[in-house]
Amino acid sequence: MNAPASELARALTADQLWYKDAVIYQLHVKSFFDSNNDGIGDFQGLLSKLDYIADLGVNTLWLLPFYPSPRFDDGYDISDYRNIHPEYGTMADFRKFIAATRRRGLRVITELVINHTSDQHPWFQRARRAKPESVMRNFYVWSDTDQKYLGTRVIFVDAERSNWTWDPVAKAYYWHRFYAHQPDLNFDNPRVVDAVLRVMRFWLDAGVDGLRLDAVPYLVEREGTSNENLPETHTILKRIRAEIDASYPDRMLLAEANQWPEDTKDYFGQGDECHMAFHFPLMPRMYMALGREDRFPITDILRQTPQIPDNCQWAIFLRNHDELTLEMVTDSERDYLWETYASDRRARINLGIRRRLAPLLERDRRRIELMSYLLLSMPGTPVVYYGDEIGMGDNIHLGDRDGVRTPMQWAPDRNGGFSRAEPASLALPAIMDSLYGYETVNVEAQSRDPHSLLHWMRRMLAVRRRHPALGRGALRFLYPKNRKVLAYLRETERYKNLFEQDGQLGWLTSAVSRPAMIENLVAIMTSAPHLFQSHRLWNECRTFVRQANGTAAATGGAHDDLVLAIAIALAGRKAVAGKVARARMEELAELSGAVRQ
Ligand code: NOJ
Ligand code: CA
Repeated sequence: MNAPASELARALTADQLWYKDAVIYQLHVKSFFDSNNDGIGDFQGLLSKLDYIADLGVNTLWLLPFYPSPRFDDGYDISDYRNIHPEYGTMADFRKFIAATRRRGLRVITELVINHTSDQHPWFQRARRAKPESVMRNFYVWSDTDQKYLGTRVIFVDAERSNWTWDPVAKAYYWHRFYAHQPDLNFDNPRVVDAVLRVMRFWLDAGVDGLRLDAVPYLVEREGTSNENLPETHTILKRIRAEIDASYPDRMLLAEANQWPEDTKDYFGQGDECHMAFHFPLMPRMYMALGREDRFPITDILRQTPQIPDNCQWAIFLRNHDELTLEMVTDSERDYLWETYASDRRARINLGIRRRLAPLLERDRRRIELMSYLLLSMPGTPVVYYGDEIGMGDNIHLGDRDGVRTPMQWAPDRNGGFSRAEPASLALPAIMDSLYGYETVNVEAQSRDPHSLLHWMRRMLAVRRRHPALGRGALRFLYPKNRKVLAYLRETERYKNLFEQDGQLGWLTSAVSRPAMIENLVAIMTSAPHLFQSHRLWNECRTFVRQANGTAAATGGAHDDLVLAIAIALAGRKAVAGKVARARMEELAELSGAVRQ
């Protein structure tokens, strides 16, 4: 029997919002697995590791730039938009890769880097030789003086002093928001917009599900402004979105806008611009809350975070391929975070910290778990950075941000099982130190150890999959008296009619607690769906909250032994709809000292 039209429409809508239920795994092809032993990871290598990725429990891959590039900015300096870097493979390999992801139900996000190109790109080579004011010359932004747009900040402060560089061929200055070898495209030129749309269609036609829009606040320049978030930039993005809606309605645009929530909100438009945007200011505040054992940085930034349109979603992350950016904090907060997480000055770069998750948290498993709970339960779609699921380390002695981009550690073998090539010929050296080296930290060993971080991550990702509330639910904070307790509900009431597993209610608290409690919490989290039906679990949970309160009260908050911990409890709709369950929810909130909002 045919399903009624409304049901079909519903199913389609649900599918179009796939990015709300996604868990994204971010990786660089170059550093993942080398299939032909030339020292550089490639698409065939990645393809051979897709089972690992699917087994981890993520459902979406985000690939860092893999296009032809001189790689002076690790591929964000593109010299040919419609091809694969020859060291990573061919377009045929890419197509095979996409087909293989489809078979496993994985989606793929790639990079649309349109703010700038490499200076090796034929467009730039043509522009610098073209007549001033010609269409070709105007593919980029030129000036006779470097005194224009002086209200614009420099982003790579450690490497660049100005956003202008003199080009001896064009005999003019060209504009660049990043490295001098990355000239900015000129979005006032309609030919640029058309060219960019063609590039976009090329990759969507090749089968990618989503596009991360790199450096998107900087598309258009106007004198007298900061040249960030200009209305003209939003007009361009709406044009891009209109193209998606018209021809590729199930695809997704993800904005990289390192801005305050008020400004980032504009990248969603009225649901007619980007589908997703990273929540940059939340990220350092999770580290701040952990460091200070105080929920305030998190509750405060989320209170300042505006509602976003129903078809939109935040992307949440703890780490990525860049430095842990501290642009979206105050000067004193930055000093605190630098002192706390990067006391070794070599770990600092630009306005941030070039470290991976495990070294940031000094390999403290409890803190890694706590941050991962936050990652998996804050409102939005989580992004896991490759290698963090096994607690990989970094190498702050490498240049730029290369130290967090080293080869994936598969096994204790040569080069961590990443490649059989001579170690000296690897794209980046593998980590070999005694704490984080591949002999100690690798997938093979952790796969055999049921207590490993890798297994823990798999379990937690499985928990997340069972609870659409974590992807789609609204967030409601409870405010226990003790600020060391972070408690919040994730609720999906408003999706009640749309989804089968609707109406889930989440109850989540993070509290100052002793390690023993955290073990209880893990048990509670994994058995969460039954919490409100099972007397035993209910009692455990109640005991936990009482203990957490007791500990917090007894220590007045300050105790070396204390760490933040999280309990998660989720109940199915039927369970929480029942009187008993509802009463239990209420009691938990009461117990944690929650003030009703
Ligand atoms: C943001 C990317 O994440 C970063 O790696 C890159 O250097 C800049 N954009 C410039 O493309
Ligand atoms: Ca290779």
